[in-house]
Amino acid sequence: MDGLFAAMGKILRGAGRCVNSGPRRAPRPGGRARIFWVFPGRLREMMGQTEILMTQTIYILNGPNLNLLGQRQPEVYGHDTLADVESACAAVAATQGCTVKLFQSNHEGAIIDTIHEARTQAAGIVINPGAYTHTSVAILDALNAYDGPVIEVHISNVHKREAFRHHSYVSLRADGVIAGCGVEGYALAVRRICTLLGHGPA
Ligand code: DQA
Repeated sequence: MDGLFAAMGKILRGAGRCVNSGPRRAPRPGGRARIFWVFPGRLREMMGQTEILMTQTIYILNGPNLNLLGQRQPEVYGHDTLADVESACAAVAATQGCTVKLFQSNHEGAIIDTIHEARTQAAGIVINPGAYTHTSVAILDALNAYDGPVIEVHISNVHKREAFRHHSYVSLRADGVIAGCGVEGYALAVRRICTLLGHGPA
């Protein structure tokens, strides 16, 4: 009988992995860590679940008047809409196993609230702050309280335009700035965020 148990022990050691189950209850002083056997199939399944839970979301934030994208000054901002931007960004993110959440507001406080939300929900931020780019210390402060990568996007080449568009508060925090690439700049920014997050080239 002892021989049978010894043989079973050998098989289990060969087939399974020993995983620390974590502190389900406070360990007894001097007590041993709780362990249990996980067979490879179950381990793969658990790792799959972990991957799903850890899918990274990139926030695409848009400031005032960008809800009118496609209608407002198409000679400057083009004909694509924010919905087009969202699907282009989602397609790039999907190649890296990421998702996007697009947000637009004409209100500074709502943008700041969403940056605060991003502190726990977003792996990275792409932001086109619209005119707030040139005025908002409050958006800069919110971004300074965010730890992940930030890429600033401008559809138009702000440096070719009026002098008041040449200064950006957000650039003081941004890890990169894309300007003048049209709405394609958003997808480029998502690609860059993925790189900064450690995903491989597309
Ligand atoms: C913009 C440029 C800003 O100066 C302007 O106020 C916008 C859009 C751009 O995407 O080119 O609203 O951020």
